Amino acid sequence: MIGNLNHVAIAVHDLEAAAKTYRNTLGATVSEAVPQPDHGVTTIFVELPNTKIELLEPLGEDSPIAKFLERNKAGGIHHVCYEVQDIQAAVEHLRNEGATVLGTGEPKIGAHGKPVVFLSPKDFCGTLVELEEA
Ligand code: CO
Repeated sequence: MIGNLNHVAIAVHDLEAAAKTYRNTLGATVSEAVPQPDHGVTTIFVELPNTKIELLEPLGEDSPIAKFLERNKAGGIHHVCYEVQDIQAAVEHLRNEGATVLGTGEPKIGAHGKPVVFLSPKDFCGTLVELEEA
């Protein structure tokens, strides 16, 4: 069902510092910062030849990554995002398999303007999984 790895997301306290690390220390191509008020984060994408890294900084009071950063003082890997061809079919399949789709299960428009859902880490080896329609 899942296809390509779309991105690995890393939560950080300081987005500009993280962007500098990827740009200067690791020599990667790094996007501008984009506030995503609907998702409570500001994002920067690091473009790699075969995938992307999504750097996430909390935005606003109720950011969904605030608690994660409280637990992970140095930042850390927050989720992985896999591509699927048909997100509604994927949600149905996952529910039939007993997996927990977070929230209402209705896809939201994600950071790339495409429908996404998140899956509970408890069902996926302790890792928060994002599915994005390719
Ligand atoms: Co993501």
